[in-house]
Amino acid sequence: MTDTTPAVREIGIIMNGASGRMGYRQHLVRSILAIRDEGGFELSDGTKVTVRPLLVGRNAEKLAEIAARHGIEDYTTDLDAALADPKWEIYADFLVTKARATAIRKAIAAGKTIYTEKPTAESLEESIELANLAKKAGVKAGVVHDKLYLPGLQKLKRLIDSGFFGRILSVRGEFGYWVFEGDWQPAQRPSWNYRVEDGGGIIVDMFPHWNYVLENLFGKVNSVYTQASIHLPDRWDEKGEHYDTTAEDAAYGVFELEGGAIAQINSSWTTRVNRDELVEFHVDGTHGSAVVGLFGARIQPRNATPKPVWNPDLEDTIDYDATWQQVPTNDVFLNGFRQQWQEFLESYVTGTDYPFDLLAGARGMQLAEAGLESNRTGAKVTLNEIELD
Ligand SMILES: NC(=O)c1ccc[n+]([C@@H]2O[C@H](COP(=O)([O-])OP(=O)(O)OC[C@H]3O[C@@H](n4cnc5c(N)ncnc54)[C@H](O)[C@@H]3O)[C@@H](O)[C@H]2O)c1
Repeated sequence: MTDTTPAVREIGIIMNGASGRMGYRQHLVRSILAIRDEGGFELSDGTKVTVRPLLVGRNAEKLAEIAARHGIEDYTTDLDAALADPKWEIYADFLVTKARATAIRKAIAAGKTIYTEKPTAESLEESIELANLAKKAGVKAGVVHDKLYLPGLQKLKRLIDSGFFGRILSVRGEFGYWVFEGDWQPAQRPSWNYRVEDGGGIIVDMFPHWNYVLENLFGKVNSVYTQASIHLPDRWDEKGEHYDTTAEDAAYGVFELEGGAIAQINSSWTTRVNRDELVEFHVDGTHGSAVVGLFGARIQPRNATPKPVWNPDLEDTIDYDATWQQVPTNDVFLNGFRQQWQEFLESYVTGTDYPFDLLAGARGMQLAEAGLESNRTGAKVTLNEIELD
């Protein structure tokens, strides 16, 4: 009798920063442990891929507590020892941005495959250096592109691929919500995000996301104009202590895209939400328009477009909300972080090219730096193609 049990390939993954907000919730619990607890996932050739995490951090007690809570056998505060051990094939990084490049350099030198949160480094120069190092070492790398995996954006991709929009003219993005100052209610995001000296700022945080969203859905970004602001100069940290905000907490950007579409995206931690979701994109095309969020997507084709007439003397009788149609889900969407992890692991096991690599990460940082420069100088900044050595 032939053995029909599928081959199982267990991959050891160093999870550095697994106690942080993103590291714990999205990467450890929702992705890696979800895969482990389901006994792995299947590749098209029937191979089962499963994962074994090694928690790495600076606080052994915290790591022990997480390990015990989730039945994880391996944790350590010694990154160098972890990198030296061939049992751990992938180095994954969820550290604060400031600490990332140093750790990734070490992991590349140790020959590990890299998977990392964005931004890949604190500067464009450093993110290009990492991409070059990985290329020279022949090391595979993946950079988180989670927003592309949001159900709403996957529906948007489907609309684009179906030709629904005709020629896309413009994209308006609204991202943000009120992040509490921290005095009378604790802030719901870590305080380092509001200090430029600690790697904070909404441009460095969000523009890498906008870069991959724009280039993968609408066209490469050719230029950017940005006006940013520190709207709230005073905030209070995790201990309730006052600090001066030194990083911008809102950025208003205009992006010219290859192919001619214009995108405008507001990113703000100082706005109160009056939309259906925390991020929404309104896309206008010659044949139809769509409004998509994290989950939802609504459309209005040109043959169902109402014909408003501007007349301030008459009350408008059109119920605009009612003129939009919901796009059905039609698919089962996994948690976006997990879906990307699975695609990356599949690409790693099968040895195929992975598009969201450190060069893609460097392009994200390029847009962030161009946004910062535009805000500083007041000029529109052109983005040139990055060439690796
Ligand atoms: N993809 C996304 O949607 C998304 C969302 C938020 C944050 N991020 C990115 O994820 C990363 C982590 O953000 P977070 O919100 O989870 O932050 P966090 O502060 O909650 O976690 C950061 C982790 O880094 C560790 N750390 C802090 N300083 C360190 C140092 N000097 N050396 C080594 N380790 C250190 C902490 O112990 C913690 O484990 C950032 O780069 C951020 O830009 C991505």
